Amino acid sequence: MTAKLILGKDVSEQIYGELRQRIESLRSKGIVPGLAVVLVGEDPASQVYVRMKGRKCEELGMHSVTIVMPESTTQDALLAKVAELNADPSIHGFLIQLPLPAHIDEKAVINAVDPSKDVDCFHPYNVGKMLIGEPEFLPATPAGVQQMLVRSGVDIRGKHVVVVGRSNIVGKPMAAMMMQKGPGADSTVTVVHSRTEGLADITRQADILIVAIGKAGFVTADMVKDGAVVVDVGTNRVADPSAKNGSRLVGDVDFETVKEKASMITPVPGGVGPMTICMLMANAVSAAERRAG
Ligand code: GUN
Repeated sequence: MTAKLILGKDVSEQIYGELRQRIESLRSKGIVPGLAVVLVGEDPASQVYVRMKGRKCEELGMHSVTIVMPESTTQDALLAKVAELNADPSIHGFLIQLPLPAHIDEKAVINAVDPSKDVDCFHPYNVGKMLIGEPEFLPATPAGVQQMLVRSGVDIRGKHVVVVGRSNIVGKPMAAMMMQKGPGADSTVTVVHSRTEGLADITRQADILIVAIGKAGFVTADMVKDGAVVVDVGTNRVADPSAKNGSRLVGDVDFETVKEKASMITPVPGGVGPMTICMLMANAVSAAERRAG
């Protein structure tokens, strides 16, 4: 079997179409959803992401603010910027691009964000609300994975979902979302990670295998059940002398072999990647709608 591809571009285009209508409806009430992104320092990957977020906002007709602060920014100066954004009525949601320089306490900054504007869903209040099944926001990458599964017609209810990886940004919230009651969830979830014994015995039981462990090509065909749905959240840059800039992006799944065993699979690049910004935009629109009442 060669797996059917689930492409983030296709799924995100569908969602952007829906968001455009919601943005139009807000505009008719005089509200323009506003998203701000704060970038501290000059991390090249972060610069690319921040630029992409700003561009997408503008494309959708949203109000977009990008704040670039120098690497030497103090924690107090960043907290002051957060307070300013918390108080700014034209900004419905904002995020601080991670990672932050080492001298800044990431947790202190995340905790300072007004939870009603926390479009990353990183604030402990929003993490807790999600966990108890009363989400105000959903974290963008896991929400994107869920949308890819739902909109590709994957049967999730009662199925065994195995999540590989336990990060706060992907693995943990992904597991919480898939075990939730209701549509697009209702599955039985197992989380495996770098310390799991007999990991492959568990991944082989997965009807849906979601991989976010941050190791290039970690999941090989022998770890996958015939006909499983495989979602690869990994983005690893590996050396490739034949590539344009000497490197290329690969996932956490050994795509070439696993695609022969899975029924559906997300490629890297082109799979989950485009979904993160899409769901971030969805969170910003939701925040504006809630403020509109
Ligand atoms: N850096 C890598 N991923 C993310 C994300 O989802 N949000 C923020 N704020 N920073 C990131």
